[in-house]
Amino acid sequence: MGFLRRVRDLLHLAITGRARKVSRAVAYRIYSNAVSLGLRRDLTVPFAAPAAKRPIHVRPLLPGDDLSCLDVRHPGLSDDQVYHRLAQARLLQSGVRTCHIAVDGEAEPCYMQWLIPASENDRVRAFFGNLYPRLGPDEALLEGAYTPEAYRGQGIMSSAMAQIAERAREFGARWVVTFVDEVNVASLKGCERAGFAPYVRRTERYRLFRRMVTFVPLREAATHVNAE
Ligand SMILES: CC(C)(COP(=O)(O)OP(=O)(O)OC[C@H]1O[C@@H](n2cnc3c(N)ncnc32)[C@H](O)[C@@H]1OP(=O)(O)O)[C@@H](O)C(=O)NCCC(=O)NCCS
Repeated sequence: MGFLRRVRDLLHLAITGRARKVSRAVAYRIYSNAVSLGLRRDLTVPFAAPAAKRPIHVRPLLPGDDLSCLDVRHPGLSDDQVYHRLAQARLLQSGVRTCHIAVDGEAEPCYMQWLIPASENDRVRAFFGNLYPRLGPDEALLEGAYTPEAYRGQGIMSSAMAQIAERAREFGARWVVTFVDEVNVASLKGCERAGFAPYVRRTERYRLFRRMVTFVPLREAATHVNAE
């Protein structure tokens, strides 16, 4: 299902004149090497969420929430902006729980991110394949960080992410983990300001549509390889 939605989104990009993004996405799956950092936060260590430049309130996404920030028909969007919006929408449709948002009094959310408990391991595997280690009972995964363009650069990610992570206590997690591409400087900064520290290096290699994922704990030898 996730694969079909991805194909649908690539077709959407192609027929809306964004063929270059499609060819880059396909080339990526034919041959690529990417590195992400796994970062984690220990909820037993007190951490004060930093304040954003505007007051925000964090809560789970509700059925009536305005998600027009993911509308790909807005004029003037770049290929990357459309690509990110489609990816957020796919994750919403995946059924992976639980999407949280930050709101600041406007109708539109100013941040969204999934806080995923170990009970969602099978859904995570079905949607993301081998991209994440299976969560232990005391772990939670934060995925799908997204600040709509109009709200970026106001410290919303770090403030909201720190507050969403705290909610993992409600289902008994101690460790909250997240993964960020090593070239995504904005996201790495946001994570570190939200109290997350690097603990593992993930290597993702595509060869002819086959993905190999390796996790190497920082300062230790390789633990295991996920292949699909
Ligand atoms: C990554 C992302 C969530 C950061 O959100 P944010 O709320 O703007 O984060 P912050 O305000 O804490 O800013 C973090 C960094 O973003 C960069 N930034 C600042 N203004 C920005 C803007 N207008 N547009 C883009 N990036 C900006 C800066 O490097 C900033 O660091 P600085 O404060 O030291 O200058 C957001 O850029 C985004 O949604 N990107 C697309 C999706 C994505 O990459 N998600 C992360 C996947 S792991």
